[in-house]
Amino acid sequence: MTIGEWLSDTSKTIERLDAELILQHFLEVDDRSYLVAHAEDELSDASAIDAQVARRAEGEPLAYILGYREFYGRRFFVTTNVLIPRPETETIINIVKSIGPDRILDVGTGSGCIAVTLSLELPNAHIDAADISEDALRVAQKNAAHHGANIAFHKSDLLSDFQPEPNTLIIANLPYVDADWQWLDHKTLDYEPELALYAEQGGLSLIYKLIDQYPFNAAGLILEADPSQHQAIIDYAKGHNLNLKDQQGYILYLAN
Ligand SMILES: C[S@@+](CC[C@H](N)C(=O)[O-])C[C@H]1O[C@@H](n2cnc3c(N)ncnc32)[C@H](O)[C@@H]1O
Repeated sequence: MTIGEWLSDTSKTIERLDAELILQHFLEVDDRSYLVAHAEDELSDASAIDAQVARRAEGEPLAYILGYREFYGRRFFVTTNVLIPRPETETIINIVKSIGPDRILDVGTGSGCIAVTLSLELPNAHIDAADISEDALRVAQKNAAHHGANIAFHKSDLLSDFQPEPNTLIIANLPYVDADWQWLDHKTLDYEPELALYAEQGGLSLIYKLIDQYPFNAAGLILEADPSQHQAIIDYAKGHNLNLKDQQGYILYLAN
C-alpha cells in the first residue's frame, strides 16, 4: 500500500488531519508536505500504526496517542496524568510577556507548558512551578529538561505548602470545570485526569481558595476560567480587595 492509499483509506475512519499526523509521527517527518511529495511511496508495515488509528477512532485525544502537543510553538510531552495544553492558555504567555515580571509562580503547572514557555520567553525571570500531583510534576520536569528551562518545582496544594517570594506574579490555570456542564465534549475529557479538570462550587472552589491565599505582597494574579465564571470570580475577589479584570477570552488579570 502506498502513503496516498493509506491516507485515503484511513480518512474514512478518522479525520484526515489526524491520519496525517499519526503517519508523520510514524515516519518521523515534521513536514506535512513530505506526505504529498511521497504519496506514491510504498508504506512498509503500516499495521504498526493500526492500533493508534483505532484508539483515535474510539475518541482518545491525539495528544495522548502521539505523546505530545504543541504549545506556543513548542512541543510538550503529555501523559494521561496531565491536561492537554489548550490554545486559549497561550494568551497568558502574551500577557505575561507584556508585563515582564522578575518572578513568576505557575500554580497547577500540569505539563509545565506555561512555566517552561515563560522561562524560555523571559530568560531573566525566576520561575517557580507547583502542582499537587507528583505524576504531573514528573511530566513538567521532563518538559523543562527537554527545553533546557530553569524552573524550581514544588509539590504543593495551591499555596499551602509553598509560598512565593515577595513581588511574584502568580499564574494559575486551575481546574474550573463543573461536572454538570453538559455542553462540554465529555468524551474527550474522559481521557484527561479528573484532578486537572473538575472543581466543586460550580468549578470555582480552587480558584476561590487561591484568592483566599493570595499573598498581600505578590505582584499580581492571572487566572484562567470559563468566561461564564468571570463575574463570580471578580465579585469574590472584590470581597478580598482585589480588582480582577476580564482580559481576553478566558483570562482574568490583576496587576498591582
Ligand atoms: C487545568 S490543569 C492546568 C495544567 C497546565 N497549567 C495547563 O495550563 O495546561 C490544572 C492543574 O492543577 C493541578 N491541581 C489540581 N488541584 C490542585 C491543588 N489543590 N493545588 C495545586 N495544583 C492542583 C492539577 O494536577 C493540574 O495539573
